[in-house]
Amino acid sequence: MRVVILGSGTGSNARAILQAQRDGQLGRAEVVQIIADKTEAGILQHGPDFGVPARYLDPAPFKTKLEGAGEDRYIEFIEGLTPDLIVLAGFMRVIKPRFINRFAGKIINLHPSLLPSFPGLDGIGQAWRRGVKISGCTVHYVTAEVDGGPIIDQEPVRIEPDDTLPSFAMKIHAAEHRLLPQVIARLSEACGD
Ligand code: GAR
Repeated sequence: MRVVILGSGTGSNARAILQAQRDGQLGRAEVVQIIADKTEAGILQHGPDFGVPARYLDPAPFKTKLEGAGEDRYIEFIEGLTPDLIVLAGFMRVIKPRFINRFAGKIINLHPSLLPSFPGLDGIGQAWRRGVKISGCTVHYVTAEVDGGPIIDQEPVRIEPDDTLPSFAMKIHAAEHRLLPQVIARLSEACGD
């Protein structure tokens, strides 16, 4: 199963996926490309460590969504990779219907809360400020509704009395690093390619 990872940030989840692949824990999945929408994104540094191509792809003209010329560039380049799965791992940009329809049923997103609670930006901070005692992370299929597609799996994280926002965030990220590679491995076993 050919996997393409899209991200905007530090790429710790991309690294967890690549490490799982190296450890033989990613089922029949193979990461074939990492793409970032920011030239300075840390995610671009992880590809070379694992022998996987990583590149910046210009998302312009919009700042918070992938539409217009940028969407065309992404569709054309990703089509050429013939992916079976596109993983949004911290890709901080709204994906629009043309892209979603082109890769229908093949795009999954990682979100740092137990959806449908705390969608959108800063899911960790939202949960912390609301004072919930259990939060977690979610992997779901991407649809036109932001953070609203069918849920594939979730991992809960309990907030203990001595937690701080940074310690809570670390627990969420640790859960993400377990959950996302597990989901990809499971999907790869069902994929057949
Ligand atoms: C992750 O916590 C992921 O859940 C979040 O961005 C972070 C990326 O971290 N995604 C979203 O908030 C999407 N709405 P990383 O760059 O270290 O993998």
